[in-house]
Amino acid sequence: MSFDRLWADLLPIGRSTDGGGYHRYSWTGADTDARAWFTEAAAARGLDVRTDRNGNLWAWWGAPGPGAVATGSHLDSVPDGGAFDGPLGVVSALAAVDELRARGFVPERPLAVGVFVEEEGARFGVPCLGSRLSTGGIDPDRARSLTDASGVTWAAAMEAAGLDPEGIGPDPGLAESFDVFVELHVEQGRALADTPHAVGVAGSIWPHGRWRMDFTGRADHAGTTRLVDRADPMLPLAHTILAARALAESHDARATVAKAHITPNGTNAIPSLVSAWLDARAADEAALTAVVEGVREAAEKASRDHGVVHTMAAESTTPLVEFSHSLRDRLAATLGERVAEADGPVPILPTGAGHDAGVLSAHVPTAMLYVRNPTGVSHSPHEWADPEDRHAGVRALADVLADLLST
Ligand code: GLV
Ligand code: MN
Ligand code: MN
Ligand code: MN
Repeated sequence: MSFDRLWADLLPIGRSTDGGGYHRYSWTGADTDARAWFTEAAAARGLDVRTDRNGNLWAWWGAPGPGAVATGSHLDSVPDGGAFDGPLGVVSALAAVDELRARGFVPERPLAVGVFVEEEGARFGVPCLGSRLSTGGIDPDRARSLTDASGVTWAAAMEAAGLDPEGIGPDPGLAESFDVFVELHVEQGRALADTPHAVGVAGSIWPHGRWRMDFTGRADHAGTTRLVDRADPMLPLAHTILAARALAESHDARATVAKAHITPNGTNAIPSLVSAWLDARAADEAALTAVVEGVREAAEKASRDHGVVHTMAAESTTPLVEFSHSLRDRLAATLGERVAEADGPVPILPTGAGHDAGVLSAHVPTAMLYVRNPTGVSHSPHEWADPEDRHAGVRALADVLADLLST
């Protein structure tokens, strides 16, 4: 299957040389190389590759225009990410085109294979930035002024990569051209691991978001400052992290503090400032609000107790996504044709992971396919899909696209 060759060519791009994971961040050299890989692979298939105003890439099979079926995913990674989150959907989409051609299939509508920029928000903080921009989900001025850890703005980074940041913003042509969008993605937990199913269908995406918390204290000497005289911002942060864990447990939710900046970050100086990011997700909006407001209260109280000033602001929020039931059921029926009766119905899965498909779903009928991940681990080099499941994913996507491109 052509998948293997495509996969092997993409695999080294952005992978750390010490055997760890991927560092493919928007507009960096690794990202530019990955975009060049996609452009070449699509052009080699005779697809017409275009860059939209926000830097997302679209490779067209058939003339670009209305009535199109779209598929694709992203090529950027989280810090030290796995190989599959994003790239599996892009490689599978190109391989599905090959598979459809090998079957002698002639599409009745155009097909667009896409790569969205900055899905992870690993460099500039806001996830699904490419799809948010295209659907009017973020103000272009705010996007232009987002900064990375070194203070480089989105505008400067995009310009350095040869694209015009002044042109970014809502792209009504995208929603008008696409009749349907289908994203294939590696499953990111154990939802399929212990089932006989190599491929499942997305049901919903939990509401989720990211909040920045700043704890401002007072820098001082670690050896001479009496404990009672300190305003140490690490202490309220520690209380806040434990509170987030307890709140997540009581609301059957997820709350994570995985990123923090300590200023000045010296062993023997009490910090003047700690910034930390809360990632929170829950099955419904009420539970999510309860967790986030509970964390805010805990942070405020602990900060007061320690003489520290606390602020907290949302950096991005994504509402509950309930994928189109008719489309979801149609995909499950198509997949079901390859499933033995004894294996039971194709699983329809909720997830706590965010996707561009979730952002698009408010504007275009959207669906997702998940490919089994036997490790159940994601956002880590241990993320995995077995070779035979990768191929099953390509066949499933080709089946689904053949159905959608025929009507
Ligand atoms: C992105 O993959 C996310 O869900 O954090
Ligand atoms: Mn991810
Ligand atoms: Mn992803
Ligand atoms: Mn994601």
